[in-house]
Amino acid sequence: MSKSISGFSKLSKTKKIEWIVNTYFSNSKEAKDIIKQYWNTNAKIQQLHDEFIENTITNYYLPLGVAPNFLINDKIYTIPMAIEESSVVAAASKAAKFWLDRGGFKTKVISTIKIGQVHFMYHGDYNKLKTFFKQVKPQLLNDTTSITKNMTARGGGVLDIELRNKTNEIPGYFQLHVSFETLDAMGANFINSCLEQFAKTFKNEAQSFNLFSDQEKQIDIVMSILSNYVPDCLVRAEVSCKVEDLSESNSISGEVFAHKFVQAVNIAEIEPYRAVTHNKGIMNGIDAVVLATGNDFRAIEAGVHAYASRQGRYSSLSHASITDGIFKFWIEIPLALGTVGGLTKLHPLVKLALELLHHPSAKELMQIVAVAGLAQNFAALRSLTTTGIQQGHMKMHLMNILNQFGANDTEKLALTEHFKSHTVSHSAVSEALQNLRLKD
Ligand code: MEV
Repeated sequence: MSKSISGFSKLSKTKKIEWIVNTYFSNSKEAKDIIKQYWNTNAKIQQLHDEFIENTITNYYLPLGVAPNFLINDKIYTIPMAIEESSVVAAASKAAKFWLDRGGFKTKVISTIKIGQVHFMYHGDYNKLKTFFKQVKPQLLNDTTSITKNMTARGGGVLDIELRNKTNEIPGYFQLHVSFETLDAMGANFINSCLEQFAKTFKNEAQSFNLFSDQEKQIDIVMSILSNYVPDCLVRAEVSCKVEDLSESNSISGEVFAHKFVQAVNIAEIEPYRAVTHNKGIMNGIDAVVLATGNDFRAIEAGVHAYASRQGRYSSLSHASITDGIFKFWIEIPLALGTVGGLTKLHPLVKLALELLHHPSAKELMQIVAVAGLAQNFAALRSLTTTGIQQGHMKMHLMNILNQFGANDTEKLALTEHFKSHTVSHSAVSEALQNLRLKD
């Protein structure tokens, strides 16, 4: 039975590690060695990482890969991707190359509005509340000028505040529903600071609003928080080409491929079981770039999947068509991203990733990320509707299996060669490795 501990966060890093390894590990020396193995040798970098969160004991590595040859609106990009899944970067690179020869990706930011809400309870006359809101609205905006002035000077800020009546769903429940433009910032802190000030002003001013009864004056603020549902922070990415240009090999014609591809997308549009996996493939590309550029992938995930259900049934985020011999494949997706603030200036690899992308604005990053999602989806559907996913997937997974079996460099070289013409599976790799070792 493990012990609980009080005051853990106040212990030094060394003491925290001591407690962890002695409490949870039979071989505490080995556990400590593993923890320390991942410390950065540069003490400054390590301290930076230690201070990102509370109770840091070590660093958790993910590979940072790059997918080159992305032609987006006639400009070439190499896209950074932080991800552990073996086939994702390879698939992205393959899709990039495929579309490089067919006109590349075309993208467009449709809208960039973000939302935050003050949720409050008011038990009284709705007309009086509406009158109060109208009267207090200028002051709400005025009281946040110290927070908003820089953002406003750059062309962003608070766009509007609406009073929303939700009493049909919960008695007494209302919202201040606020829309924001946060430019290149993801804007979470900006939005939440504004909302908390709105809540304060709203509650205070209600107390001296002379139309309210004593009970009506007692507005109860439940919470003030941004929404990660951003259906009006939307970007579109698209590829298209003549159907016959889709053919790469003699094995399948462009027509047959296009038809099967559109069928696969149609299935994901109407079948939630397939749509979830289809969209997971899209998120393989999206999350990897979001993570590499220091953005909040949980926020992106939450917003994207809510958007995928916006019509009441979970559905595909991407769509495809064949019209007049032209194959078209596109995605429209909500992506609230930032390229300033947060980790962007702090994490050396995030800085590097953003530089690799030519220091994009948030709007540019939205387009790049949407392309990564569409490319990933294209690569997955292309495999699924032709060779099947396992061939490519297991080829990429081969190195993981070899590492699991403790293969050395010579064995890895020999078996990578062997599996160029053999099907990869756990047992096939185990057998081939045994045979190789017997030969020596
Ligand atoms: C695997 O990570 C992603 C796929 O399952 C996506 C898909 O099925 O479209 C291959």
